[in-house]
Amino acid sequence: MRNALNAIADELRRLKTAGVDTMPVTDEGLRRLRAAHERLQATAVAGTTAAAVATESALPAPPTIELPAGDKSVRWAALRDIVLNDPVCREHVRPGKKVVFGVGTLEADIMFVGEAPGAEEEVQGEPFVGPAGQLLTKMIAGMGLDRSKVYIGNIMNWRPEMPVNASGVQFGNRPPSADEMKYCLPYLLRQIEIINPQVLVALGATAAQGLLGIGAFKALGEVRGRWHEFAGKPLMITYHPSYILRNQSNRSKRLIWEDLLKVMERAGLAVSDKQRGYFL
Ligand code: URA
Repeated sequence: MRNALNAIADELRRLKTAGVDTMPVTDEGLRRLRAAHERLQATAVAGTTAAAVATESALPAPPTIELPAGDKSVRWAALRDIVLNDPVCREHVRPGKKVVFGVGTLEADIMFVGEAPGAEEEVQGEPFVGPAGQLLTKMIAGMGLDRSKVYIGNIMNWRPEMPVNASGVQFGNRPPSADEMKYCLPYLLRQIEIINPQVLVALGATAAQGLLGIGAFKALGEVRGRWHEFAGKPLMITYHPSYILRNQSNRSKRLIWEDLLKVMERAGLAVSDKQRGYFL
C-alpha cells in the first residue's frame, strides 16, 4: 500500500520536474486515493507500518562485481551473465518477465542511459523497445545512426514494481526509488567502463538524478542541454523520449534535438545543414 502511494507521489514529482503542471483526476480516482491514505494511517496507528515498510524497501548493499580478464566482449558477456542472474534483480521480476541489460555495439561512441525497463522491455529483455524506445530509435536515426551503432542502457535492471491485479498483471510504471538505483548503479558503471564511449546521454530527470545524485537539481531545465561529467565522461542531459510523446510540439522536439546536435558534435559526427534545421 505504502509502496503504491509512494509510487504515485514519485511519478507526480517526476512529471512536475518534466514540466507537467496539471493532472486530471476522476472522482473515483480521488475516492480511491483517499481510501488508501486512510487505510495506511489506520495501519500506522496499529503500529505495523514501520515493519512493513522496512520489509518492502530493504535492498542489500550494491553488488561488488568481479569480471574476468579479457577483451571487451569477454568482460561484457560476463557482466551480462552476472546481472541476468543477480538474485536481487531476479527476485523483483515477476514470473515470465526478464531482467534487462544494456544493448548495442561495444564500440559505441555514444551511450544513452534511461531510467528503468517498462512493460515491453521486461517482456523482451531489451531496453527501450516500447513506445518511448521506438521514438528513441527514430531520434538516433535522425542523428544519422542505426540503433545498433550506439549503446543503450538503464540505471535499473528490473521494472520497478507496482501493484498487480487479480490476474497478476502490473499496470503503470513508476520511477525507480533511490535505493533501487543505488543497487543497480554499479552495473551501469561497469558497462560504461567496458564500452568506454566518448559521450553519455542521460534521458530524463530520473536518469539524470541517478547519475548526478538525488537532489542535485530541482527541475530538469536546470541541467539539460549542458555538459556535465559522469564516470570521467562528458554527460549530456536531455528529455526522456516519453516527454516528447506527451508534448508533440515542434518546440519540445527542437529542444531535445538541440541537445542531440551537441552530442553529435562532441562525438565527432558530421552534422548536415538539413540536420541542423530539424524542427525549426
Ligand atoms: N524508459 C526507460 O527509461 N528505459 C527503458 O528501457 C524504457 C523506457
